[in-house]
Amino acid sequence: MSDIKLVGLRKAFGKQEVLRGLDLEIPFGKITVIIGRSGTGKSVLLKQLMGLLRPDSGSIIIGDTDITRLPEREFQKVRNRFGMVFQNAALFDSMTVYDNVAFPLREHTRLREKEIRELVLASLATVGLTDAIDKDPHQLSGGMKKRVGVARALIRKPEFLLYDEPTTGLDPIMTAHVDELIRHTQDTSPGLTSLVISHDMEATLRIADKIAMLFEGRVIFEGTPDDVRSTDHPVVRQFVEGRLEGPIKV
Ligand SMILES: Nc1ncnc2c1ncn2[C@@H]1O[C@H](COP(=O)(O)OP(=O)(O)OP(=O)(O)O)[C@@H](O)[C@H]1O
Ligand SMILES: [Mg+2]
Repeated sequence: MSDIKLVGLRKAFGKQEVLRGLDLEIPFGKITVIIGRSGTGKSVLLKQLMGLLRPDSGSIIIGDTDITRLPEREFQKVRNRFGMVFQNAALFDSMTVYDNVAFPLREHTRLREKEIRELVLASLATVGLTDAIDKDPHQLSGGMKKRVGVARALIRKPEFLLYDEPTTGLDPIMTAHVDELIRHTQDTSPGLTSLVISHDMEATLRIADKIAMLFEGRVIFEGTPDDVRSTDHPVVRQFVEGRLEGPIKV
């Protein structure tokens, strides 16, 4: 039942200041979508949550625990609370759907095959893919691969499910399908909190409970989809409408 709080996060690479004092609350049990232009630090933010990158300053707080400066061994436990759906699904080509989804259980638990099978079936059922259990990744469409990626991310019942641009490269119908999957997964997984990185405004407005816009290293706008639709914040308007003229320079 934990919220995530990011407080004053800063991260620079050499002279390039990517995050410049970013504040954001990611509420428990909801879908938060982070939008913003390419290169604004959305993936850097996700990597810091997963402990793959450490912030220069600021804090990441989960529930009551400040995880920002945990030693690596402790951080491993935190990482176990997260599931990640990668941009390109990142399935193992040489493994069947079954083995792909079972992989995290085989890596991190000592469950017997019978128990693994039950969990894999349940996870595949959540994404509507039980029929594809014996297929190889090359036999799947892009959208099906994404669904396998979600099933694999869900298999260890994470508290936080992170999606990095889940629909990039999919056709509009497949995009709608994956959006619905994100919503369905959230609505049918008690105790789950989802964080989605997206470029896609339409999808964002359709699935988000909360939207945060990243600009020049900070969150410059937060609100519901209705707040985004009705705001006259110039940066948000330009982004939503996809205009060339405005405060965002190309
Ligand atoms: N490990 C790194 N070393 C140096 N620079 C980095 C590193 N990771 C990210 N950057 C830089 O930080 C900036 C933000 O990168 P990031 O990948 O977070 O962008 P993004 O918002 O996810 O963009 P996109 O929407 O294109 O995925 C970029 O300029 C990138 O080059
Ligand atoms: Mg990115």
